[in-house]
Amino acid sequence: MTAAQAEAGPTEHIPVLYQSVLEWLDPRPGRRYLDGTVGGGGHTEGILRQGAEVLGLDRDAETLRVAAQRLAPFAGRLVLRQASYRRGAAILAEIGWRKAAGILLDLGLSSLQLADPSRGFAFRQDGPLDMRFDRSGGESAADLVNTLPEEEIADLLFRYGEERRARRIAKAIVRNRPIGTTRQLAGVIAATAGFSEGGRSRMHPATRAFQALRIAVNHELDELERALPVLMECLEDGGRLAVISFQSLEDRIVKQTFRKAAGKPLKGERSGPGPIEEARFRELTKKPAQAEAEELAENPRSRSAKLRVLEKIGSADGPAGGTKPGH
Ligand SMILES: C[S@@+](CC[C@H](N)C(=O)[O-])C[C@H]1O[C@@H](n2cnc3c(N)ncnc32)[C@H](O)[C@@H]1O
Repeated sequence: MTAAQAEAGPTEHIPVLYQSVLEWLDPRPGRRYLDGTVGGGGHTEGILRQGAEVLGLDRDAETLRVAAQRLAPFAGRLVLRQASYRRGAAILAEIGWRKAAGILLDLGLSSLQLADPSRGFAFRQDGPLDMRFDRSGGESAADLVNTLPEEEIADLLFRYGEERRARRIAKAIVRNRPIGTTRQLAGVIAATAGFSEGGRSRMHPATRAFQALRIAVNHELDELERALPVLMECLEDGGRLAVISFQSLEDRIVKQTFRKAAGKPLKGERSGPGPIEEARFRELTKKPAQAEAEELAENPRSRSAKLRVLEKIGSADGPAGGTKPGH
């Protein structure tokens, strides 16, 4: 979910690019999948409905409870664990699966989390400035805004929110500390921009700062960057890794990691693996798949979603059997 969508307000969670994901992953009875961000369980339910087995992970215990309830009819083919997808390889080994025919990461936060003011992700309703996916530990957004030096707050807002007014906002935050709630923080930021609620500006000036804080609190880019190379190695021959990202910082990590794995030179590099080292992966989406008009009309969250798919090169009769949706 992008900063602007987060601002647009919560709705029920509708899984994005649902058909594309199912077509690329091609679930069938006997195949095993890892859904690293099970969320409300929308994509996982699709995979289970097609007869496959799923290991579903989420860092958020509350979200997992909702998913478990929804997915109860499939309990015999489903394992749910509260964990980061970064531990996906270890948990696959723990449950004795080792490899997966497909892996899905649908990044960011779900509408369920956004809709709950006690989680502190949204500023339309007041709530504690928390933003942790996993509330059992780690620093909250309040910890960051109330303890970091001004310079570090500015860096964080610029790096993770691409916020051009980062310095001015950081200064206002430090001047108004302690800040304990979402509305309080949004008000401090709005005042730096001379913004009034109900005015004509389309995007609330706190939107980017909220995105930046959420990414920092949950170490989202770091998790993604470290996890992708490990998860790729969990694929069976012919297995596929599908990643849906919602903002450019995430998409850049996915794109570069997939390029490198497929042996393609990155910008500024002259070549990928040398002539001896054969690429073991190929990118199936030359350009990322995006929502089409019908989905956009139904689910505004899908607007900025980009789906990239990587395949582990294997025998033609590998688990994903050469199926390719019409992109
Ligand atoms: C966009 S939602 C997924 C929605 C899901 N595909 C569905 O159809 O309902 C993203 C989920 O990823 C979880 N999440 C974020 N970072 C994570 C991580 N590093 N490991 C595991 N789960 C994570 C969030 O808690 C959230 O529930």
